[in-house]
Amino acid sequence: MAKTFNFAQALLDWYDQHGRKDLPWQQKPTPYHVWLSEIMLQQTQVSTVIDYYQRFIRHFPDIETLAAAKQDAVLAQWSGLGYYARARNLHKTAHLVVNEFNGHMPASLETLMELPGIGRSTAGAILTLAYHQRFPILDGNVKRVLARFFAVEGWPGIKQVENRLWQYAEELLPEQRIANYIQAQMDLGATLCTRSKPDCQRCPMQTHCQAYALGQPGAYPGKKPKKNIPTRQTHWLVMQNEVGEVLLEQRPQQGIWGGLWSFPEMRDGEVARQYCQQRWQLQIHSQRALSPLQHVFTHFRLEIYPTLLQCSVNGVADKDYGNWYRIKDTFELGLPAPVKSFLKSLN
Ligand code: ADE
Repeated sequence: MAKTFNFAQALLDWYDQHGRKDLPWQQKPTPYHVWLSEIMLQQTQVSTVIDYYQRFIRHFPDIETLAAAKQDAVLAQWSGLGYYARARNLHKTAHLVVNEFNGHMPASLETLMELPGIGRSTAGAILTLAYHQRFPILDGNVKRVLARFFAVEGWPGIKQVENRLWQYAEELLPEQRIANYIQAQMDLGATLCTRSKPDCQRCPMQTHCQAYALGQPGAYPGKKPKKNIPTRQTHWLVMQNEVGEVLLEQRPQQGIWGGLWSFPEMRDGEVARQYCQQRWQLQIHSQRALSPLQHVFTHFRLEIYPTLLQCSVNGVADKDYGNWYRIKDTFELGLPAPVKSFLKSLN
């Protein structure tokens, strides 16, 4: 099968002609740049990440600046990218690297993997792309390429399947040009060996790809068993005072949108007017239900019912409860994506 075919060489030849070489984090692949881009790219597409990455680097040009920043400022730059645990872990890791490693990103697999937010594949990407050490990676793109090339059955979320893919990833590593090779694997997965429309006719692996030989590249990797995700409901209290400011509060660190700023929430069955009077002693002049929103998380679907409440501030809503913000100032805060777009529409 793949014995006489040199997978790595074929991939590198393809990369030299067709690989991506202009991505912003490739221009100066320092450990900081590689690490940041890998974290951003974990659940987000390249086309979305580019702007966020460039803005983030302008705000936090190095790991020391990032470590010294307030969490709020970091979350504000992450606002809209989702999966905010990534940003909180990024910030924690920046602290650890500055305080315990003199600001130098560790160059060993074991040490990297002990840092918050860094798993084996991200550690592999840092070690190869920034330090030119010989390690495999196994992100979503690479899993797909290898599952197809070797026609590996089963969903890679299953440990045994994942272990087999790691083994293949390791066996295929070339001795030379490790950084280009790793980038080439990701590029092949992102540009030709895509999830739903693989372009096998242009693929340098076609002649030896087992999924292609079987006539069904799309059947690999195996799909995750479907589960119906539950729906939850919440009510946003969108309180606006006489000067047009809105009341936001910072969410607890644990749970969804941890540390981000959002509208106070109320459970089903509670009455907005009473709730606001009890909790903040606010006088409500008028109230209006706005169109519901929906946001889908990995594990559940959230239906959001916002109520706009015009109220007057009687010297309440102090720092312990949240803060009144002019809408245009809210965009400086770390906001969940639906809060941000909602505030834009309110503006
Ligand atoms: N996805 C994850 N890492 C990447 C990288 N370095 N370049 C392009 N896409 C990626």
